[in-house]
Amino acid sequence: MMVLGFTGGALGGHLGGWRHRDSFPTTAMQLKCMIEMAQIAERGGLDMMFLADGNGVRQMDRPELFAANSPSDRPAVFEPVTLFAAVAQHTSRIGLVATATTSYEEPFTIARKFASLDHLSGGRAGWNLVTTQYVEDSKNFGRDEHFGREERYERARESLDVVRSLWDSWATDAFLQDKSTGRYLDPDRVRLTNHRGKHFSVKGPLNVARAPQGQPVVFMAGQSDAGKELAAYGGEGLFGTASNKAEAQAEYADIKGRMKKYGRPADSLRILPALSVLVGRTATEADALFDELQSLISPALAVSYLSKVTGVDLTGLPIDGPMPKRKGESLGGTAIGRSVLDMAARDGLSVRATYERVLPTHGGNMVKGDPVQVADMMEDWYRSKACDGFMLSMPVEPRSLRDFCELVVPELRRRGLRPSEYRGPTLRDNMGLAHPIDPFLQAPAEKAG
Ligand SMILES: Cc1cc2nc3c(=O)[nH]c(=O)nc-3n(C[C@H](O)[C@H](O)[C@H](O)COP(=O)(O)O)c2cc1C
Repeated sequence: MMVLGFTGGALGGHLGGWRHRDSFPTTAMQLKCMIEMAQIAERGGLDMMFLADGNGVRQMDRPELFAANSPSDRPAVFEPVTLFAAVAQHTSRIGLVATATTSYEEPFTIARKFASLDHLSGGRAGWNLVTTQYVEDSKNFGRDEHFGREERYERARESLDVVRSLWDSWATDAFLQDKSTGRYLDPDRVRLTNHRGKHFSVKGPLNVARAPQGQPVVFMAGQSDAGKELAAYGGEGLFGTASNKAEAQAEYADIKGRMKKYGRPADSLRILPALSVLVGRTATEADALFDELQSLISPALAVSYLSKVTGVDLTGLPIDGPMPKRKGESLGGTAIGRSVLDMAARDGLSVRATYERVLPTHGGNMVKGDPVQVADMMEDWYRSKACDGFMLSMPVEPRSLRDFCELVVPELRRRGLRPSEYRGPTLRDNMGLAHPIDPFLQAPAEKAG
């Protein structure tokens, strides 16, 4: 079954989306917008709402850009796990996937937050493990510079192991709460993590009972070689960045192929490339919305945003002149940045032509048309092993999400690509992932010490 998530920023996924008349009038710290989106998506049976996150505010040194705002500047956003704890109380089925970085958060805190969210949501939590791409964030954590990629991924892998070990601290039946005997818990049903590694030192156990899913679902997003390796090692969901079908197929085969050496079956990881959907009742309606949105992007903001995406400062370059070319990994510090620079070189694009192509989708893919055209594209990718589903980006919120759920979901169901209702109460059930076995049911517990 095709897995479907959506990125839940209330500003919408298109850079001009928040200025459109059908977008939310105000979004800064508006819980009601987030609940409304989660409920629309739940009515449409989507598997998860996904929230990217960062730990810094950007563009303050460029007041005109700062004022215009671009989505990942994030000057006013809820901490995503806290937000989802609230959203969980207004929904009952949709998965809630929040981002937390292993570069600046300790594994104990991550394990605790996501295990708590899994309890509060009845088994719907997912952790999007990121290593963080913005240098600015490091300045809020006692560092003038970001960790290098190698160190970031080293920390990420160690952190993932520790988090998973902490999630296995308690047996499912550890908390007896037996009033007659006075035994609240069984001390033989808990174990320590006792981890001493290069980056972290964690004794354990976690102070949260075993989560309803056993372990919340682990997502990843990095797409460099190190990112792919980590996804093959331990990812269960992957937010993909391929910018066309052939690239997506190659990435799919590559990452699934790498899983064998870790003894993992290929279907224990769901690869979900980003897909921006512009759907109308007719193709003409979709075209009209797209043109309207493109006219709402300011060139100065577009150049600045493209600079950020590619990791190359493009300000001052002639807007109709060519894009700079990259050499090795020295330009375009992230995988998205590199794929954008490669696409510009391949297609001979100017700065303006690159941002016009990239910004509607933030570097990912876009499908535009009537519901049948949108479903055709999605079905084609899914059946040709380019993906296991999609991470949808909605250009104008809440209009685009509602349109997708009302127009495209019925078409996908008609084709047998989506279930007619949720397959189970947990995110794992709905992604078709196995529930991890409680280790206390497999082996005798280690004595707590
Ligand atoms: C699709 C996608 C989404 C991402 N979302 C976030 C995010 O929300 N917050 C964050 O700090 N980093 C995010 N990242 C950054 C990654 O964690 C990683 O640091 C970055 O991509 C650089 O690593 P790479 O070279 O392996 O891609 C994202 C990356 C990708 C590709």
